Amino acid sequence: MDEGRIPSEGVRDPIAELEYRTEQAMLGEGQERVDKQHEAGKMTARERLTLLMDEGTFTELDRFVVHRCADFGMGDRKVPGDGVVTGYGRVNGRTTFAFAQDFTVFGGSLGESYAAKICKVMDLAQRSGAPMIGLNDSGGARIQEGVVSLAGYADIFLRNVMVSGVIPQISAIMGPCAGGAVYSPAMTDFILMVKGTSSLFVTGPDVIRAVTHEEVTKEDLGGALTHSTKSGVAHFASDNEEECLLLIRELLSYMPQNNLEDPPLGPTDDDPLREIKELDTLIPLNPNQPYDMRDVIRPILDNGVLLEVHEGYAQNIVVGFGRVGGRSVGIVANQPMVLAGVLDIESSVKGARFVRFCDAFNIPIVTFVDVPGFLPGVGQELGGIIRQGAKLLYAFCEATVPKITLITRKAYGGAYDVMSSKHIRGDMNFAYPWAEIAVMGSEGAVNIIFRKELAAAADPEAERARLVQEYRDRFANPYSAAAHGYVDEVIVPSRSREKIFTALEMLKDKRDTNPPKKHGNIPL
Ligand code: HXC
Repeated sequence: MDEGRIPSEGVRDPIAELEYRTEQAMLGEGQERVDKQHEAGKMTARERLTLLMDEGTFTELDRFVVHRCADFGMGDRKVPGDGVVTGYGRVNGRTTFAFAQDFTVFGGSLGESYAAKICKVMDLAQRSGAPMIGLNDSGGARIQEGVVSLAGYADIFLRNVMVSGVIPQISAIMGPCAGGAVYSPAMTDFILMVKGTSSLFVTGPDVIRAVTHEEVTKEDLGGALTHSTKSGVAHFASDNEEECLLLIRELLSYMPQNNLEDPPLGPTDDDPLREIKELDTLIPLNPNQPYDMRDVIRPILDNGVLLEVHEGYAQNIVVGFGRVGGRSVGIVANQPMVLAGVLDIESSVKGARFVRFCDAFNIPIVTFVDVPGFLPGVGQELGGIIRQGAKLLYAFCEATVPKITLITRKAYGGAYDVMSSKHIRGDMNFAYPWAEIAVMGSEGAVNIIFRKELAAAADPEAERARLVQEYRDRFANPYSAAAHGYVDEVIVPSRSREKIFTALEMLKDKRDTNPPKKHGNIPL
């Protein structure tokens, strides 16, 4: 549509003109393209925003913006809005900014004006101190516009970084997102994908075939399942768009609007002092026997609700959000059910990223510890477990939010230090009465320190059993750590919720800072 077009040649009626122009803008490039979008199992940009925001609260900005490109026939093809819908509304009653790429207009491709719209709404979000949500569905850089498209992406990237840690940023991938365009979502706090209709890759299957001769489908390369289970790029994979948009709303409910606020207090009818009798018998006392740590976590949280992040990825660590007595908490927990809850490269990075998010946005961290140590292996060492494991340690060390730690069973070796121990500013460190806090497990320890005695023993097995018991009595309990003040309280498991709630209340006005610096140097 031409910018100067008016409804009739007759007397000008400004209100009628506005209505006409608005109607035209909403039509985009026409119903046919909208139908095609629906046939592909996708909603339009505006339909998505309607579902994302509280009913009737979305205000669209820059509805009449058009591109300025005259090349390749683009001069005759201007569509109001230019392929992206931007604006603000309310989510759970709180101001939230968003952009939604409109695949029905130029394939949602990004040009100069389009990028300027996104930058404008991001700047507004930053100034207003409110979250920024990006709904991505785009063919990437608008080819006809050339280098100004690339400039537009860079303008967005810069803003992603500038607002990182200032306001929460969430990206949903709801269609294609490829090439350098992936780096905007990649720099936001959370990425959600929709199974079957979204894809995210730097180079697609055709380029890969040409360059490396590898055959791979789009779904296997960059689909929701791939990124939520294998690469870890996506934090969530939803079955459909509606579920994805509702998940964004749920995720936001745990977060403050910005880094200067505390998370909102959720309403709860769940008694914060509630006893959880089953926890007294849930955990197997044999340190080698698995159990699902989520069975410990869920009953401690309000109404048993845990919103797991990265649920399908690096499952030997569990991270996610919940509430205790209405207060948002970030949960970080070893998972004895997967790889015995060991820390490896992927789980360390997964945990570190989550801890840093919580710390940036004033969300207290509750850490559940049952960890045999770091995973041994050539693959781990060559993959840089030293550098990767250090990320989790670094993240816990630098975090100044309230940190509550509960050792549910074993805490061995360096992993004990890493998992929000007292030594790295854990505020309240609890242990169950059967917790084992030691350099290593009893069997391993005895084999090392009594090697000569065992070799010389008349009955090595009996001697080993005796020494293991002696070692267990001495070290495989929480009292040695408690005697040093490394554990603040040894607690009865059924009172875990009460203890954590009381600690959160005590710490609600916690003040702690790190030394002034430009920024630290987390081992990336
Ligand atoms: C301009 C584009 C476009 C683009 C799609 N369209 N991508 N227009 N620039 N990048 C247009 C198409 O010409 C078409 O217009 C309409 O959008 C719908 O596209 P279709 O191909 O008909 O749709 P579909 O079959 O669903 O395929 C979608 C697609 C494909 C997979 C996204 O269009 C595609 O491969 N596009 C090119 C992707 C790409 O290489 N982009 C550059 C990536 S590099 P008409 O009018 O004919 O309907 C990049 C760099 C970013 O983005 C750099 C950041 C630093």
